[in-house]
Amino acid sequence: MSAAAPAAAPAAAPDQQQPAFRGEFGFIGGAVAKAVSTTFIILVVAAFVARHVLDDKYTIAKTHSPEIVQARMLARFEAGSVIPRFEKYHVSRPDAIAMLQGVLRPAPLEAYTVVVGETGCGKTSAVLDAIRPNRTGIVYHIVRDDLFVDISKRLAESLDFEFNQFTFTEGYLKDRGVELHEVTSAAEPFKSWVLLSLSLRDVAQQFKTKHGHPATLVIDAVDMIAKQGPALLHVIQNFAKSAADEQLLNVVLVTSDGSTLPELEESSAMTRARVVEVGDLTDEQAVDFLLHRGVNEDSAKRAVAEIAGGRFVLLNRVTKQLGRGHQVNQIFLEFHIGTRGALRRLFGDLAQISPPASSTFCRLCRGAQHVDDVEEALGRDLTKKLLATNVNILAYHPNKTYTLHSRHVQRSVSTLLNCTRP
Ligand SMILES: Nc1ncnc2c1ncn2[C@@H]1O[C@H](COP(=O)(O)OP(=O)(O)O)[C@@H](O)[C@H]1O
Ligand SMILES: [Mg+2]
Repeated sequence: MSAAAPAAAPAAAPDQQQPAFRGEFGFIGGAVAKAVSTTFIILVVAAFVARHVLDDKYTIAKTHSPEIVQARMLARFEAGSVIPRFEKYHVSRPDAIAMLQGVLRPAPLEAYTVVVGETGCGKTSAVLDAIRPNRTGIVYHIVRDDLFVDISKRLAESLDFEFNQFTFTEGYLKDRGVELHEVTSAAEPFKSWVLLSLSLRDVAQQFKTKHGHPATLVIDAVDMIAKQGPALLHVIQNFAKSAADEQLLNVVLVTSDGSTLPELEESSAMTRARVVEVGDLTDEQAVDFLLHRGVNEDSAKRAVAEIAGGRFVLLNRVTKQLGRGHQVNQIFLEFHIGTRGALRRLFGDLAQISPPASSTFCRLCRGAQHVDDVEEALGRDLTKKLLATNVNILAYHPNKTYTLHSRHVQRSVSTLLNCTRP
């Protein structure tokens, strides 16, 4: 008999069933165990990471807290900004330096100061000379050709101030009367300015309490700020004014260009400003400067009398051109053509300039004239155009006078308008 094929596999004996049972439940059990152990590992790792992150945050909070940030800023004021040495031949200007040293350490602090003077008359150098012998308590910052949005950040660098999430928490701002949304909604550079100025006030107070007198912040070349519109400049002026009102911080603004002064004066904060001027060298000092730069005596005297007067930037330019073999006459002619072009663009035919404009120009050739007389004769609009940096015919002075912009402009105007001395 052939063995019938089993209809079904015989049921396994109970002890033979175990491996299948085990297989199935063992698999589930294994999976559960695996999941549990993986979760455990993940939790351990997460706890480890979290602890590190928290530790880090804690350390960051410790090194970046407002107190630490302000302590650094205070240290910067206490040490003062490092002023580089002057390398070339240096003209000593004791009067200008003494005047500026008074501005840097006023006793008592009654106003903030605006230092004015034409581009290249030596303001920056004179301010640095005034700081160099004793820089403690003075931070010096110069506005360079930065992007407008970066202006406050650059100032912050000079002050050793660091922006971070701990310096502008809601609580920190609230304590200082500012709402967080006012800051977050502001655009740069105003946003950074608010944060910086709040800490600056705190630090100024700390400095004053510790040393018994206010610290000084010099911001040079503020005309670079004004170039982008007066808004930020006016914000800084308001800060400078209230710092002076509260005798908190001595703010000194240096503007490289007389034409910024009317802009500064538009601000009501100007009522609290003391305006001082850095002028040119005397003709004798200027000749001496050229002699030290290797120019022969005859050329030096003529270059000063006819072109440069005591304006450093012109003396430097003349020195360079004389060095290239140009004659004083030739150099003057280049300037003269520039001035003639500027006047023609503004007036058209120069022969048509008649009194009172022509007589006002001729009086300006002889010396300073009161702003009211000049504006009445030329009109405000035209006066403003003559002041513009790209035209440079007039220069504004804080004693409410105008002069012609420089020695060569004076000579050119005199020739072009046939002014004869009385
Ligand atoms: N006392 C000085 N002696 C020699 N050179 C000077 C002196 N003061 C300024 N200069 C030079 O004159 C130029 C203009 O000076 P700067 O201080 O930059 O003028 P400002 O800030 O008024 O534009 C610079 O090249 C500078 O080196
Ligand atoms: Mg300068």
